Amino acid sequence: MERCDVLGRCSEEPARLTRPFASNAMRRAYGHVMSWMREAGMSIRQDNIGNLRGRYEGAPGSDSTLILGSHLDSVRDAGKYDGPLGVMVALAAVQRLHDTTSRLPFAVEVVGFADEEGLRYGTTYLGSSALAGAFHAADLERADADGVTMADAVRGFGGNPQRIDDDQWSGGKLLGYCEFHLEQGPVLEAKGLPVGVVSAIAGQSRYQLTFTGEAAHAGTTPMAHRKDALVAASVFVETVDAYAAGQEGLVATVGQLTVYPGAANVVPGEVTLSLDVRHPDDTERRLAAERLIDIAGQTGKHRSIAVTTNPISDNPTVSCSTRLTTLLEQAIKDLGVKPMQLASGAGHDAVVMAGLADVAMLFVRCKGGISHNPAESVTEDDVAVAIDVLGKFLELLATER
Ligand code: HGY
Ligand code: MN
Ligand code: MN
Repeated sequence: MERCDVLGRCSEEPARLTRPFASNAMRRAYGHVMSWMREAGMSIRQDNIGNLRGRYEGAPGSDSTLILGSHLDSVRDAGKYDGPLGVMVALAAVQRLHDTTSRLPFAVEVVGFADEEGLRYGTTYLGSSALAGAFHAADLERADADGVTMADAVRGFGGNPQRIDDDQWSGGKLLGYCEFHLEQGPVLEAKGLPVGVVSAIAGQSRYQLTFTGEAAHAGTTPMAHRKDALVAASVFVETVDAYAAGQEGLVATVGQLTVYPGAANVVPGEVTLSLDVRHPDDTERRLAAERLIDIAGQTGKHRSIAVTTNPISDNPTVSCSTRLTTLLEQAIKDLGVKPMQLASGAGHDAVVMAGLADVAMLFVRCKGGISHNPAESVTEDDVAVAIDVLGKFLELLATER
């Protein structure tokens, strides 16, 4: 909990937690995490995309690895636990092995992913994509709000953007990837349970839409002559909300909006906005996204506003591995807690890691279901249960072998 507080102070903004990919705040956070990894007897390396990888070797002769991890970047004005909690729980479990000089019949690699939220470049899962061998080299050309390309950001953070393929897992047999994370929703709290096992992670699509009208003088342009991009975009935002509210299982969000030129006395000429669409069923999600993009075009047309759409990411729903999930449930039962399965509406690095290995996730109860908000909160007791579950899970995995 103290470590999450320490990382929570590694921010690009003084009064709130904002820790984007490859930032100075990230570098400071890595300094702390590296010292904790060292303390837990791990060897450390930072790969090209910027993931922090700590390795705790298995017993002599062991030839396989279990990857534990979560992300160390954050959203803007974030809570302290989304991401770092999973890395800290993993470190605590390895620390226990180290303190008792225990070696498992497999190595444990703890990964702090460099970027999951996509705050800086709009993309999601940069870190896990590199490790899973699913990184899109074209993303390196993307520029952040200051015009810095991802390739330059990678270079500035100590990586070689031409060598991101080298980050792909090459360490031999993988037993799986396991991620512990706060729930970010209200289910476990309602059930009175400290932890729960994730059954599946809902798919998500992200787009950037640009509404282009005509900038004009706010005092001299009659209302009937305007091509106000913001008015069209506003109608669209309202439609997205109403459309998703009317479809079972669908959630859709416009979370980012930029108005050009952005002055009180200028009719807005251009608006760019983000669209995030999620549904547990991939077909429903894709249909809804297509429908919303179609609606955006029609909304613009009525007002002589051109609308263009740029797809940013598309991730399918991912099921967790039955083998690893059963072991997690067994670990929970062994601790005298009732096991419960729940689906994740939030995306996680496990989505991309599923392309590389079997994945499993454990959720920790979250106060009021609040996340992506500085009020994010977990209790020390629940985190203790999570660390115990992970310890038990490692034991079970060791005996399974
Ligand atoms: O957006 C998400 O679902 C995750 O928190 N990155
Ligand atoms: Mn998040
Ligand atoms: Mn997260």
